[in-house]
Amino acid sequence: MASLSSLFDRTRLSRRSVLTGGVALAASTSLTGRSPLASLDATSRPAAQPLTAGRARTRLLEPGAPETELWGFGGSVPGPVLRLRQGEELAILLRNELDQPTAVHWHGIRIDNAMDGVVGMTQEAIAPGESFEYRFTPPDAGTYWYHSHNRSWEQMARGLYGLLIVEEREPPAVDRELLLVADDWRLDEAGAIHEESLGSLRDASHGGRLGNVLTLNSKDFLEQEIAPGERVRLRLCNTANARILALEFAGHRPWLIALDGQPVTPRPQEGPLTLAPGQRADLVLDGTGEPGSRHAILAHTSGQTLEVGALTYSDRPLRDLAALGPVPALPPAKIPQPLLESARRVRLVMEGGAMGRMQSARLDGQELAIRDLVEQGYAWSFNGIAGRPEEPWVSARLGETLIAEIVNDTSWPHVIHTHGHHFLTLEADGSLPTDPVWRDGILLERGETKRIAFVADNPGRWLIHCHMLEHRAAGMVSWCEVI
Ligand code: C2O
Ligand code: CU
Repeated sequence: MASLSSLFDRTRLSRRSVLTGGVALAASTSLTGRSPLASLDATSRPAAQPLTAGRARTRLLEPGAPETELWGFGGSVPGPVLRLRQGEELAILLRNELDQPTAVHWHGIRIDNAMDGVVGMTQEAIAPGESFEYRFTPPDAGTYWYHSHNRSWEQMARGLYGLLIVEEREPPAVDRELLLVADDWRLDEAGAIHEESLGSLRDASHGGRLGNVLTLNSKDFLEQEIAPGERVRLRLCNTANARILALEFAGHRPWLIALDGQPVTPRPQEGPLTLAPGQRADLVLDGTGEPGSRHAILAHTSGQTLEVGALTYSDRPLRDLAALGPVPALPPAKIPQPLLESARRVRLVMEGGAMGRMQSARLDGQELAIRDLVEQGYAWSFNGIAGRPEEPWVSARLGETLIAEIVNDTSWPHVIHTHGHHFLTLEADGSLPTDPVWRDGILLERGETKRIAFVADNPGRWLIHCHMLEHRAAGMVSWCEVI
């Protein structure tokens, strides 16, 4: 196998000059109304749509390179875009055509606990050949995603994920949506998934499984046409196992309108937008480029800058830029406001990993030295416990506000994901932010401490874990119960 960094060069080398007009994930929406597809959906309440988890193959590399055998939903990677209107029910009959058990998590949805897809906690794994019906009505509009939640370090590294889009009842006026799913893959020289390193404890105790090929929508280079004066809503999602990315649209200043599915006060996005694994963002990008011009889509990661795509302008303007007007705000989130005065304060301390200070941690009720933990595949702990504990991290009363101080006492960044709840990040002085941003994943750099607050308003047992999937598998996982 060539060194990772040399394989990474593929992204740059494969830059093509011929337009392919690949718009596989683009859905068109007229400036004044809804997408034609969505209006058809409205009349038919969904019977469970079948969806398979099984084999898929895709060309992740440049044209002419071999295709890669993957696993995917509905035979594709990313899986089919599941799109519904706020207030509608999603009903999916998931059939497992893999050789190993699976389950699906609906990431970011404030969902009924029984539909959350957590094996051994909210459901049993779906055995090969078996099916499971997921049925729920997402409470919030926004950009979400669905992914395997069993052996996700393997199943997601092989491609088992897709976008889940809940449209606003009154979607903002845009000409088009462009969905951008960023992933990185660790491929061998033949372009196949590097299987030997799946589940590597070395990756798990360091930065997770980092790939050597970066794709947007499973393409090593995404060509996208745009018209001068066009207004595009971008929905971005980082589906990588462990790679943190910052995306940039050179020559443009898009407006940020949502993070992790939830609306934010529209603000110009200055510079690259960082997305840790699992995080999403919605941007409004106006076609401010000159007719015929070309602008790179850049990904900044691990000190490198890669060209992962390009926006190419057509010659005919769609309209005068002046006719576009201000970027519309999305209707605000309807998430209960934390009451800090009466809040319960809890802590979540991350320890372990390479170059860490952790000496030991509890595993299945037994205190084990780091050496013995490693032997069993563990390298990290939450509050001194490795692996999913039997006792909850917190047992909250329904409606109680929790303030969680999250401490990254390790030498690595981590992105902590909360199931079933979005949270606010408190200011340094402990107050609520004046401009609230609700998230379901929070990135903490090495040594960093942050406080989050949320109302435990969703009954059930909810996982909290690092979304760097190897970290989760190697111990960075706990759960809270809301009763
Ligand atoms: Cu997106 Cu528990 O995961
Ligand atoms: Cu982590």
